Amino acid sequence: GLFCRFLKLNILNLSSDQITLRQPDDWHVHLRDGETLGSIVKHTSRVFRRAVVMPNLDPPITSIELAKNYRERILKTVPADIAFTPLMTAYLTDNLPIDVLVDGFREGVFIGAKLYPVNATTNSSYGVSDIHAIDVLLEAMERIDMPLLIHGEVTDLDVDIFDREAVFIEQKLEPMLRRFPKIRVVLEHITTLQAVQFVETSGFRLAATITPHHLHINRNAMFAGGLRSDFYCLPVVKREIHRLALRKAATSGKSCFFLGTDSAPHLRAYKETACACAGIFNAPYAIESYAEIFEEENALDRLEAFASEYGPAFYGLGLNKSSITLERKKHIVPKMLELGTSGNLKESVVPFHAGETLSWRILKN
Ligand code: NCD
Ligand code: ZN
Repeated sequence: GLFCRFLKLNILNLSSDQITLRQPDDWHVHLRDGETLGSIVKHTSRVFRRAVVMPNLDPPITSIELAKNYRERILKTVPADIAFTPLMTAYLTDNLPIDVLVDGFREGVFIGAKLYPVNATTNSSYGVSDIHAIDVLLEAMERIDMPLLIHGEVTDLDVDIFDREAVFIEQKLEPMLRRFPKIRVVLEHITTLQAVQFVETSGFRLAATITPHHLHINRNAMFAGGLRSDFYCLPVVKREIHRLALRKAATSGKSCFFLGTDSAPHLRAYKETACACAGIFNAPYAIESYAEIFEEENALDRLEAFASEYGPAFYGLGLNKSSITLERKKHIVPKMLELGTSGNLKESVVPFHAGETLSWRILKN
């Protein structure tokens, strides 16, 4: 694809037990809202300079006003000594007015718009019934070069859940790209070999984000010794061959693959239930989690490009000037974190890698 190039790679001193990276950005995150907002934002803003904030609140972000207010609520939680910029997205619906997208993008409120196929995932009941239903919006987005962020799964109940991404690419994404060949698209949180190959070879203006969890676990994790909802997310984790393809893609040094955590916290009560919510809360140790992968793949010299350079290049934004330093130091991830800072609210959430040992950590200055 057009965005699939090898850009400049930094040569790091790999003998060292420290790596300093240009400060990364998270190009796909769920920060939620309400009483837990501040304690969720804290984990992301600790490391990431900017973050593309998902609009799947209930009700979703479908107007410029809603986006501005949500951005304000997020920023209010950030301490004065932390620089953090939330980049807002619009939630596409069948009847979203074109002006919301065009004006919101031109005013710099929206960095892009998110396509959720209806009922594909958490809070997607307002989502798009069929891609054709929003052709007028896609036409406008192509014209103004507004990025389209896609949750790439079909939702037909007769398609096996493990095939939903591959079927979406073949039956929905490729035909859509043929109708709008100049649209700028991020296929979000890719999970399959088919997605990797499509992004690499399609020839369209297409890139993809890859989460830490899809690089670490395959579908066995959901069934290890019992039913493990902490490893349930959407798109669902797939077979080992897909995980290996994703690891290769993320560490390839190709500019069409960049960091997007899809960190998606759900309170304990919504995970420990017969019908558990989809989502993995990886924000607390996200960069450490990616570092682990890049080291295992002997590609630590490519971490900075993936985490801090290819995202801004795709979105046409400047690179961060600040940096973060990781040190090689084993540490155990807590089994549970508490969310909520105000009043008597104490809600627990299990972070990704709970109870595991990670080998890199952020160096506190
Ligand atoms: C996300 C959420 O909970 O908002 N869940 C998830 O499993 N990733 C929604 C999404 O990104 O699909
Ligand atoms: Zn998401």
